[in-house]
Amino acid sequence: MHSLNGVEKDQNKILVENDNGDERKMLADLGYSEKAINYYFEKPYMGSLPDADQVSEMLGTCGDTLKVFLKIDHNTIIDVRYQVLGCPGAISAAMASVDLVKGKDLEYALNIDDGDVFNQLEDVPSKKHHCIQLAVKALHKAIHEYKNGNGRLTNMECRSVCSAPGDCCKNKEFNFNELVKSPI
Ligand code: FES
Repeated sequence: MHSLNGVEKDQNKILVENDNGDERKMLADLGYSEKAINYYFEKPYMGSLPDADQVSEMLGTCGDTLKVFLKIDHNTIIDVRYQVLGCPGAISAAMASVDLVKGKDLEYALNIDDGDVFNQLEDVPSKKHHCIQLAVKALHKAIHEYKNGNGRLTNMECRSVCSAPGDCCKNKEFNFNELVKSPI
């Protein structure tokens, strides 16, 4: 629940209330397709996965931040969520990326590029193409970190047991076991 001027509001209701014609028209006038606008308002994959196999974060040069949660089983992407502190371009691109890779294997997902996401969105303003790049880079970073670090610990869990998370998280399983056997 969210409190605004002393009135308790349900977060979902706020999303619906914000989904107004004015904002849709503004985004359409800027060059967002209807499909991209729907991704932005509906945010079907926004949030976290409590049992994620990989959690990775990427900061764009624009200052926007994307956090990616991956659920992986036998090299297949079972589910993805993004947390996005960013613009409509970043949000719609992140959501569209999930539709492209969910149910696909890691190698397929690593071959997804900005053009694929742009086609999935149908159109976004040219000034927002870097937002697509950020969403794709964040996804690829998460997959690479999963493949390199491979382990079920999330970054947060790793930090809680590790004195040097920057190095440790690249080899989570080994360090985690070492730390559990001989805590510092
Ligand atoms: Fe930063 Fe869109 S402006 S991702």
